[in-house]
Amino acid sequence: MAKIRWKRILARTALALLLIGCSEKSKNPMSPEDGTSPRGLDPFAQNAKLGRGMNLGNALEAPNEGDWDVTLKSEYFELIKSAGFNSVRIPIRWSAHAAASAPYAIATSFQQRVDWAIEQAFARQLAVVINIHHYEEIMLNPAAHKERFLAIWKQLASHYQNYSGDLFFELLNEPNSLLASDLWNQYLQEAITAIRQTNPGRILLVGTANWYNISSLKTLTLPADDRSLIVAVHYYNPFQFTHQGADWVPGSDAWLGTRWSGTPAERQAIQRDFSEAASWGAAHNRPLNIGEFGAYSKADMTSRALWTEFVARTAEANGMSWHYWEFIAGFGVYNATTNDWNYPLLYALIPKTSPALTVASSLRLPP
Ligand code: BGC
Repeated sequence: MAKIRWKRILARTALALLLIGCSEKSKNPMSPEDGTSPRGLDPFAQNAKLGRGMNLGNALEAPNEGDWDVTLKSEYFELIKSAGFNSVRIPIRWSAHAAASAPYAIATSFQQRVDWAIEQAFARQLAVVINIHHYEEIMLNPAAHKERFLAIWKQLASHYQNYSGDLFFELLNEPNSLLASDLWNQYLQEAITAIRQTNPGRILLVGTANWYNISSLKTLTLPADDRSLIVAVHYYNPFQFTHQGADWVPGSDAWLGTRWSGTPAERQAIQRDFSEAASWGAAHNRPLNIGEFGAYSKADMTSRALWTEFVARTAEANGMSWHYWEFIAGFGVYNATTNDWNYPLLYALIPKTSPALTVASSLRLPP
């Protein structure tokens, strides 16, 4: 009896909150195009808008959307918003949809698909990061791909110049191999200069060389007078835990069974890495984003949830925004088969007490 009443009260409260949300939405629309290129945005305030975010991985950064069994649906954005996330990061393989020779035109149909995804996010008041992801050719032969990389950004910058400042551009996911620090410092400068011609104040995310490693912050050189930047790093340590059994990491089957139980030594190792990043951020007065972190599904769920929670809270304690890797594939916080959340991971990311989650929970009661 008491339980039934409680559910009714919850349902009414949820509805009331939703209605407040709706009326706020109509008063304060976040439209994809607000008609002006963003200016005067505070990068720290914009980083707070990224807040707790979700990577929509394995969709648009596959060679073609669907190749890796993920095709974006509008309900994904709804689920992510209702669970209490603030933003989405959309990894995109533009290099597979741009011509091989100058002027390196981006295919219109693919551009429109990305427009659709951005609009889905904005319609739900989610901020959006788009990037260039899996441009593997530039890592192996930087000189041969530099002009194409810059041309892709010129096209994107022009196309999105009048979009709201809650659209963020991230220059290039995980520079690695021959695109090492020195070269990356030159390329990022040129990409920023190209984007700034049409987007003087948009907030850009710039990551470090060597796969966005925290230890590469010390070799990162940014244009000192451009304050509209957020610096991104990725976090997958201990790698033998997070990537056990990952078929794209040779030898990782030998790590199967590696657990993470949050011993003092395990926690301190993560805290040390994050304070190294935070000190760099403070010394350079740059906001920081953990653009990816996650533990692959071959690890046990208890360890995954403990690690995920610890990393997310440590990032937050250091004032960093974050994007979990990822929504609905091998690291997935959402299970495509049961069509429901992996609740231990969801609660690790968004603590159960979060008001936004209370609303989501009453719409679809968790176990
Ligand atoms: C890659 C993914 C990979 C993930 C974890 C991402 O940056 O794009 O393919 O699953 O890192 O290794």
